[in-house]
Amino acid sequence: MKSISNNIEIQKSDKTYNISMFIGIVFSLLTTILCEMFFNSIDLGPKNIDFISRVTVVFLTIFSIYGFYVRSSIKKDLKIKNFITIFMVLFLSIIVLKFFQFLTDALINEIQSSDYGFKLTSTELTLAFPMATGALLIQSVMNTRMAAMFVFIWSAIIGFYFVDTIFLFLFTISSSLVAVSSVVKVRSRGVYLRAGLNIALLSIPFSLIILLSSESFVYIDFLICIFSGLLGGLFCYLIASGLTPILEHLGNYVTDMRLIEIATLDHPLLNELSIQASGTWNHSMVMGMMGEMASDLVGANPVLVRTGAYFHDIGKIKKTMYFIENQQGEDNPHDKLTPSMSALIIKSHVKEGVEMAQKYKLPSLVIDMIKEHHGTSLIEYFYNKALNDQKDNAEEVDELLYRYPGPKPQSKEAGILMLADCIEASVRALPEHTKDNIQVLVKKMINKIFAAGQLDECDLTLNDLYKIAGSFVKTLTGIYHQRIAYVDNKESNVNTILK
Ligand SMILES: [Fe+2]
Ligand SMILES: [Fe+2]
Repeated sequence: MKSISNNIEIQKSDKTYNISMFIGIVFSLLTTILCEMFFNSIDLGPKNIDFISRVTVVFLTIFSIYGFYVRSSIKKDLKIKNFITIFMVLFLSIIVLKFFQFLTDALINEIQSSDYGFKLTSTELTLAFPMATGALLIQSVMNTRMAAMFVFIWSAIIGFYFVDTIFLFLFTISSSLVAVSSVVKVRSRGVYLRAGLNIALLSIPFSLIILLSSESFVYIDFLICIFSGLLGGLFCYLIASGLTPILEHLGNYVTDMRLIEIATLDHPLLNELSIQASGTWNHSMVMGMMGEMASDLVGANPVLVRTGAYFHDIGKIKKTMYFIENQQGEDNPHDKLTPSMSALIIKSHVKEGVEMAQKYKLPSLVIDMIKEHHGTSLIEYFYNKALNDQKDNAEEVDELLYRYPGPKPQSKEAGILMLADCIEASVRALPEHTKDNIQVLVKKMINKIFAAGQLDECDLTLNDLYKIAGSFVKTLTGIYHQRIAYVDNKESNVNTILK
């Protein structure tokens, strides 16, 4: 059985690879045509060897960089929309470059024709070109792998068409890589400012290279280079921060910034959850803290886990009192229902949550977290109750009625969310929140979920589970220690007042 499924997997990955290679041919061809249109006039004369050889070299260079990245990329990167976005960003980068070339040519002519007392060279002004903008955009909406692919294709194009000036090629590749490494985690628009500043700083060694290689060293030239570098950083910052939301919207990309924007009480769903179901909201916030801390240790996205935690139980808004965390000592409505009816109501919070999330157009990544947070797990309490009620006919109890429909968690983030969900609820029910009690319970719950096969389809390894357990214990111990300290403090204050 295993070898058959392995064969299917290999066939599937071969198919994905073939499709990706076909996309690569189209992508490389279109990019080559684009470059020829803007950097060289197309001449289709039959004996024009120059054109044929140029196009062949450009095509093969782009295609080989593409092929290398397809081979080393993960499947989720290889989406047609990603290559359309990269093509559009390349197109935009070429337009911006042409525009800045036009501006600098006009400026140089103006300075030359009038007597301002100094001269400008195109190399000095090159530092003001926002060559790293495209890399910043791709890094913001995709990831470092795809941004690196963009950087190498873009730099190869510059190196090939601006063969007279190696300087522009070096500046493009280094400023783009600096930009990408400055925005590894895009948690606020401020990161673009940091990237812009880093690009401006990079222009200092480039300014020195220009000065040392020029025959007539003039002090003002150095100032012009530094000023150009500052402008280049500023342009990168302005263009990238302005265009990222447009790219997010057009390509339906979910950036960390978008997640941060929706994961606040300003969002109507979270606002309603916090008012209608304060117990669930409290549970979601604690889960958010647990998930965020653990994600960093296992290479998952902490912002996605926190946002998923806040929204995972929004489906409970419709029937808040059927969930234990909102009952607060009041009558339990499940007492009047059969176990199967109770299970149906409990299960429905996932479906209703997904519908509400779709209605409010939450990102698909967050909707997946809602769908997957219970996997296909069993609602044990009501299943056992049903078995008890049907002692003599236990085989008549249909287990499927008491199972969530799934799917099981498909990503590290959804796996962490499932663990945090079960563990937070269990730890809350502990009579005493000592570190030992929490530690034992966390370990027991993780083992149970793992043994039930709920983590089979996500990428969490045993080592990840070990790290997650440690992090959960640390977070939960911290939370309950603070609560105990707060209650102790409050009681001693009350006693002081009474005395
Ligand atoms: Fe839930
Ligand atoms: Fe939950």
